[in-house]
Amino acid sequence: MSKRKRILSGIQPSGTIHIGNYFGAVENWVRLMADYDCFFTIVDLHAITVTYDPALLPQRVWDAALDNMAAGLDPEKCTIFVQSHVPEHTELCWLLTCVTPLGELGRMTQFKEKSERERENVTTGLLNYPILMAADVLIYKADAVPVGEDQTQHLEFTREVARRFNGRFGDYFPEPAVLIGRGARVMGLDGMSKMSKSLDNFIGIGEEPEAIWEKLRPAKTDEARKRRSDPGNPDRCNIFSYHKLVTPEAGLREIVAGCTGATIGCIDCKKIFHRNLMKVLDPIRERRRSLAEHPDRVRDALAEGARKARLAARETLDGAKKLMGLL
Ligand code: TYM
Repeated sequence: MSKRKRILSGIQPSGTIHIGNYFGAVENWVRLMADYDCFFTIVDLHAITVTYDPALLPQRVWDAALDNMAAGLDPEKCTIFVQSHVPEHTELCWLLTCVTPLGELGRMTQFKEKSERERENVTTGLLNYPILMAADVLIYKADAVPVGEDQTQHLEFTREVARRFNGRFGDYFPEPAVLIGRGARVMGLDGMSKMSKSLDNFIGIGEEPEAIWEKLRPAKTDEARKRRSDPGNPDRCNIFSYHKLVTPEAGLREIVAGCTGATIGCIDCKKIFHRNLMKVLDPIRERRRSLAEHPDRVRDALAEGARKARLAARETLDGAKKLMGLL
């Protein structure tokens, strides 16, 4: 048994990983592989809590696996798997459902937002989403969960589920710590809301450089800077918040001086960001291309990942059932 601390995190198969996912979570996962016993899952069972097209789901799961592996998740150094391939998650989810008061679920921010969007199809699955997420984490007795800021409420809920279970049946689940990535909350290209696939305000990590430039060119900057000769305020500029993710210190100082002194325009500033971003994304796109040519590598990684995950998950599930008087 590994003595390293354990982490678990998950990502929805929503078509493509965007730079919000990457700088908020995935980049951190890649770094943490060196020091933790890592489990990463593509959460297809969460994806079906809202309206979706069953014909598209397999490709989306596949794309998520390719994106994550291309971004640096190495199946030799972590366990990467598809959530529905490890049915123990749903079994633990049911057990945890039976210790979760109904009232708390309806108060979750993400439930409120999504049920607003899904008016015609607010399922019990959507309501129970956070319990399945708690099961994802607790079934590996994870010590920590690396995520972006938008998941902190769900993880506080996970900690409460653990406390409630432990209080009722005996100390069993650790309360996981939350590890927030460098880009805790990457804003969308509109500068108004969090970058997200569903709001179509994103830059995908696998997009071609030209396509990314076409999205960046009209993207929101400091609104007060109407003409190139107007001095800008980098702290009010969404593009500057992006720069902080990819531009080295010295480069950032030059941007601040150029923007406040009106010696560089917004388009120049975006060009520099684009160049620096592509230094991160070019190798990812290359790796993705080569992985796509060897689908067996991805298939094998997911099969081996599910096998390893099931071993760990079964052990925790059996212990929980025993404590609940189910064996
Ligand atoms: P998901 O698929 O929405 O996002 C995956 C990860 O990316 C982070 N993220 C962001 N970080 C910064 N800025 C953004 N604009 C941004 N958008 C997304 C998310 O915080 C997340 O870390 N419910 C989860 C999936 C999940 C999970 C889990 C996570 C299921 N079970 C267990 C952790 C542990 C979700 O929908 O993430």
